Amino acid sequence: MKVILKCTRNSKQILKRFHSKDAKNLIKQHTEISRDHLTPEIALHLITQNCQLWHSHPDTCPFIDPFWAFYWPGGQVLSRYILDNKELFEGKTVIDIGAGCGATSIACSLVDAHHIIANDIDNVACECIELNSELNKTSVTTSAVNLLGGNDLECDILLLGDMFYDEITTNTISDWLDHIGSCPTNILIGDPGRHSFKNHPMKNKLEKVGTYDLPASCVSENNGFTYASVWQYRPS
Ligand SMILES: C[S@@+](CC[C@H](N)C(=O)[O-])C[C@H]1O[C@@H](n2cnc3c(N)ncnc32)[C@H](O)[C@@H]1O
Repeated sequence: MKVILKCTRNSKQILKRFHSKDAKNLIKQHTEISRDHLTPEIALHLITQNCQLWHSHPDTCPFIDPFWAFYWPGGQVLSRYILDNKELFEGKTVIDIGAGCGATSIACSLVDAHHIIANDIDNVACECIELNSELNKTSVTTSAVNLLGGNDLECDILLLGDMFYDEITTNTISDWLDHIGSCPTNILIGDPGRHSFKNHPMKNKLEKVGTYDLPASCVSENNGFTYASVWQYRPS
């Protein structure tokens, strides 16, 4: 399988093709394995302050928008909730939309979910998820298909970790959830109170099921968010 990584050098965009193995090596080269987050049970390849890329000019980054290299506050609390509520996930089929580094999917595998699809439209994220899943000896299937807007999701549980990061995406997901039908039966969202989420009309259809303080590393990376919550979608 080939993945495409966009490489920016001297502000000029060059398209580079890497084999999956090369992408994984590049991820390993530019990240460190970290457990400094809310779910230390899970080891993750992340770009941290100890990595050269953290301190480098964006033009030298071999990846375009490597969201997968960070473990976002919404994902951290969602994964914590999963690890703390094993019985809700055991034996279930789960789709994790915008899986990023894959931690939330990995949490599902650790609590014995039956089948987990880690979905992210960024092919490099899927490579990173495979690396992280292997690192934690878990079983996760990756998919880079854009599922947003589609119907008939064959799963029991849909997970959305920190997916309400801008207004357009928030509206797109909100409209989608309104038309998604009765399957999946359980939709869970992790969010630290992002602007486009906290004032959205969709909030009337959500019930808060958990709130967690964020660890210092996450607070310093995320503009002062100090806690984040898990919400369950409950349309009337
Ligand atoms: C803010 S990150 C959250 C990652 C992870 N859930 C977490 O909380 O750590 C958002 C992720 O959503 C992915 N994404 C954006 N639009 C998407 C879509 N339509 N379908 C699937 N993934 C998408 C991005 O590539 C990115 O990895």
